[in-house]
Amino acid sequence: MRRYYIAGNWKMNLTPSEGALYAAELAKAVQKGKPDAKVMIAPAFVAIPAVLEAVKGSPIIVAAQNAADHLSGAYTGEVSLSMLKDLGVGTVILGHSERRAIYGESDALINAKTKLALSEGFEVILCVGETLEEREAGKLEDVLSRQVKIGLGGVSSADMSRVVIAYEPVWAIGTGKTATPDDADNAHAYIRGLINGLYGKDVAEQLIIQYGGSVKADNVKELMAKPNVDGALVGGASLSIDKFLPIIEFGL
Ligand code: G3H
Repeated sequence: MRRYYIAGNWKMNLTPSEGALYAAELAKAVQKGKPDAKVMIAPAFVAIPAVLEAVKGSPIIVAAQNAADHLSGAYTGEVSLSMLKDLGVGTVILGHSERRAIYGESDALINAKTKLALSEGFEVILCVGETLEEREAGKLEDVLSRQVKIGLGGVSSADMSRVVIAYEPVWAIGTGKTATPDDADNAHAYIRGLINGLYGKDVAEQLIIQYGGSVKADNVKELMAKPNVDGALVGGASLSIDKFLPIIEFGL
């Protein structure tokens, strides 16, 4: 039985002080409500220490939105996994479509980061998803297959217990257009099939696959009801407690 995993990706929003205030409020609410789901928030790097402090003692996981593919060195402007580990961070989002499209991250780079993060003991949320153009050209499965196979190249079966895949159709991110629950379930089933082919049935059945793309309080329930949808990676609606808490508590 897979446990629902609800994650909030704050992207480049909320300053350290705004983030800490909100995270403290969220931690209290989560402790009181005791939702069934595992809950994660990913603030900007500079807000991580304040947010970690604010959620101390609560079950909320604090993650990073990205990390460098090296542990230290002359890489101006980058943040390493060892720095994040030193803060107490153990989860990292990699391959988000904004990293791919805006910052030119390739499948090979995302694979290097994924392998490094896993070797450093991190849990990795690997994001995959097609653009509207790719979907309309009938390339959904080719894109998912390429991103999953290259992204996970060289990752062992044992390390797959620390991998989560987030399926985020690029056309549904921040647009208000959500994939239908059936669209999401079909893509997730395809991804699970790929993992079955690569790692076998047990790994495929245990894999958590989150859906991301305009998830809101009013669509989360029907998305999560689908057999292959195990959680959500939420952007815009994770930025305030009134929008995020109902998503976390969808099953209560
Ligand atoms: O990482 C989160 C996704 O990009 C979804 O963002 O919920 O604002 O569409 P959104």
